[in-house]
Amino acid sequence: MGDLFSKEAREDLLERGYSRRQFGRISALLGLGSAAIAASPLISGTAAAKGTPTRAPIEEVQSKVGMVRLGSNECWTGPFPDAAQAGAAMVQYGNRYEPTNLRAQLIETVSQVEKVPQTHILPWPGSSDPLSRTVVTFCSPTRGLVTADPTFENAWRTAAWLGVKVTKVPLRAENRYATDVRAMLAADPNAGIYYVCSPNNPTGTVTPLADIKWLVAHKPAGSIVLVDEAYIHFAGTPSAAKLVADNKDVVVLRTFSKLFGMAGLRLGLSMARPDLHAKMMRYDGASQSGTLSIVALATGTASLTQSAAIVERRNQMIAAREETFAHLKKYGLTYLPSNANMFMVDWKQPAQTMRDAFARSKVDIGRSWPIWPTMSRVTVGSAQDMQAFCTALDQIMA
Ligand SMILES: Cc1ncc(COP(=O)(O)O)c(C=O)c1O
Repeated sequence: MGDLFSKEAREDLLERGYSRRQFGRISALLGLGSAAIAASPLISGTAAAKGTPTRAPIEEVQSKVGMVRLGSNECWTGPFPDAAQAGAAMVQYGNRYEPTNLRAQLIETVSQVEKVPQTHILPWPGSSDPLSRTVVTFCSPTRGLVTADPTFENAWRTAAWLGVKVTKVPLRAENRYATDVRAMLAADPNAGIYYVCSPNNPTGTVTPLADIKWLVAHKPAGSIVLVDEAYIHFAGTPSAAKLVADNKDVVVLRTFSKLFGMAGLRLGLSMARPDLHAKMMRYDGASQSGTLSIVALATGTASLTQSAAIVERRNQMIAAREETFAHLKKYGLTYLPSNANMFMVDWKQPAQTMRDAFARSKVDIGRSWPIWPTMSRVTVGSAQDMQAFCTALDQIMA
């Protein structure tokens, strides 16, 4: 296993406390795509937890076909029409790896929109790879991972796969379920990564930028604050990209899988100081290809500048979410406040029982998290999808 990595990468891993036995696991995460598989909403959770990078059985995938899909935080509709057209126009050039400078155009557009230098932006096929990769790079057997609880489990799973200590800190119930950055630092003052997902998956709640800045100012040397902004366009709140532009120890992740409706097209971004990115890339050695789908690149680039369409889609989601909340209230059901296209609803009974009941009505709702076993995550779909959710709820309550 020793020569999977360059000499420099090997030395770095050993110095940070990884053993040679873990090299194979690291290589599997970075090279064979198990990170993306583990993050897949369709993966069977138990297989991923055991560290077996196995895809969900095909029956599990097919069972979702024909259902109202409110289980995976996807967008209810595809890319904006202009963006889809830009992507479709690329299909005929599919014989070329790079018919034009599409990758550079994406980086240039991100730089203009986010006001982050081009040198600080890397595109990826989704954000799952850079999410797992930051754990490999900045955590180790001696420097743990700290996250909120509940939060998106990808980083937990990667850490577990690598034998990295995971510290989970409850969200701030008294403050709109924001991430408790002070408690996170206190819980492990020498961690490698403090992961803040804002808006948070599964709650949809936002952590104020002031709290993220506090964490950046007080965290230990050699660590990073990893800000996962997968859902930020649904919230319209200020981004931590500013901290990247200011050259702080921050990595910001974005994906085009959510509001931009591109989950199956695969495109994501990491924004970070070049030296942090260089560390993240050092394990790839000669195998690094970096080629992205030209359809995804063209669609994504054309999406970013559609500010009116972004607001319109956000407002459609908010309207559907608020109507759903009004319906839940009729039954006295409680839910957490949300700023994104998902919410947690408390059934006051095992969440799986309700998930099964919804499935019988052909509505696929989301999973629950061990800390809140009576709550389910529900993705906000179209007005029509949410109407189907409410009708199914009426049937279940009757
Ligand atoms: C918070 C968060 N981060 C990252 C991802 C990964 O998404 P993708 O790999 O499609 O970019 C997801 C997907 O659901 C997510 O919820």
